[in-house]
Amino acid sequence: MKRILVTGGAGFIGSAFVRYQLETYPDVHVVNFDKLTYAGNLDNVKGVDDKRHTFIKGDIADAGAITEAMKGCDAVVNFAAETHVDRSILGAAEFINTDITGVYNIVEAAKTLGTKRVLLVSTDEVYGSILDGSFKESDPVGPRNPYSASKAGGELIGLSYFHTFGLPVVITRGSNTYGPFQYPEKVLPLFVTNAIDDIPVPLYGDGKNVRDWLYVDDHCSGIDTALRKGEPGQIYNVAGGNERENIVLTHRILELAGKTAALIKPVADRPGHDRRYSIDASKLHALGWQPKMDWDAGMALTVKWYRDNEWWWRKIKTGEYLEYYKRQYGGQ
Ligand code: NAD
Ligand code: TYD
Repeated sequence: MKRILVTGGAGFIGSAFVRYQLETYPDVHVVNFDKLTYAGNLDNVKGVDDKRHTFIKGDIADAGAITEAMKGCDAVVNFAAETHVDRSILGAAEFINTDITGVYNIVEAAKTLGTKRVLLVSTDEVYGSILDGSFKESDPVGPRNPYSASKAGGELIGLSYFHTFGLPVVITRGSNTYGPFQYPEKVLPLFVTNAIDDIPVPLYGDGKNVRDWLYVDDHCSGIDTALRKGEPGQIYNVAGGNERENIVLTHRILELAGKTAALIKPVADRPGHDRRYSIDASKLHALGWQPKMDWDAGMALTVKWYRDNEWWWRKIKTGEYLEYYKRQYGGQ
């Protein structure tokens, strides 16, 4: 694999994956294709080796543009997506456009061009909520919000191209990811950056929903393992192994930010809020992958990163962000 097309490489996990490829494989050239939506940010790939990184501004929902960008690439790894559940509740059209039609364009282009590997980055949210135990890849999907339903739709289109046309599609389902450069609409960077400014942190419902936290570089190594060692047509769960109730996560964030629990503001629950996500990653472990980051260490370095990098998030928390914030939290 010499030339890899990474879509959504200006987003949170995509940009970490771009850095991971360039640092791990000296012969790899990365073509980074990103629409630069509100969540895309070229600051995220500032300082990467420009000789081995080509950026193209483009939309995966534009069949001509994505087909053109994929020409000459050995593999495509799709991170491009609308990714925030709360925004999908406010309006789902862009989710269907990017997360379903966009994926259709990618597999269709790969079929036409004979691309050797298509990795679709997906999420544990496609399984839906589970109160006891953990989902395995053989379990049926049961998405319950427009974001996870569109991700499941994209996956199913991808798998249909494997079964029908033999397209070498591999899917990863990662758990909740955290680390530097995450857009501050997601719970961790939202709460850290609010806390730094002494703004209350809006905790949904009873705060007892459970998420499994995966450090971003571990997510990238998991995707890379599936890309290089996974079997076509297969799905691989990528789990952090750090299940925490939101209230526990919130207390830890506030403690690391040097603030007190007085900043916690209980607010109305998210509609259809999945209670618990849990996945079993033994299939990916069998390919040699293990997450390396310990939760305490990962949390400490992540909160420190937001404290040290106000230049990155202060300019994001303006304009469109403030409008969204008002729409989402204004009435509370
Ligand atoms: P993000 O929102 O930070 O970034 C998404 C990127 O995709 C942005 O750079 C955006 O500009 C780009 N993009 C959006 N629509 C596009 C389009 N139509 N064409 C081209 N580019 C487009 O997202 P993230 O958190 O980095 O997530 C990346 C992927 O990982 C997504 O597919 C998401 O479903 C999946 N995932 C995320 C998590 C998580 O916890 N963040 C967990 C599991 C899986
Ligand atoms: P989020 O980061 O949006 O990820 P996801 O919904 O994809 O899991 O939310 C993580 C958890 O935090 C989820 O249970 C919802 C909760 N949450 C809050 O309590 N308050 C908030 O303001 C946000 C954004 C999330």
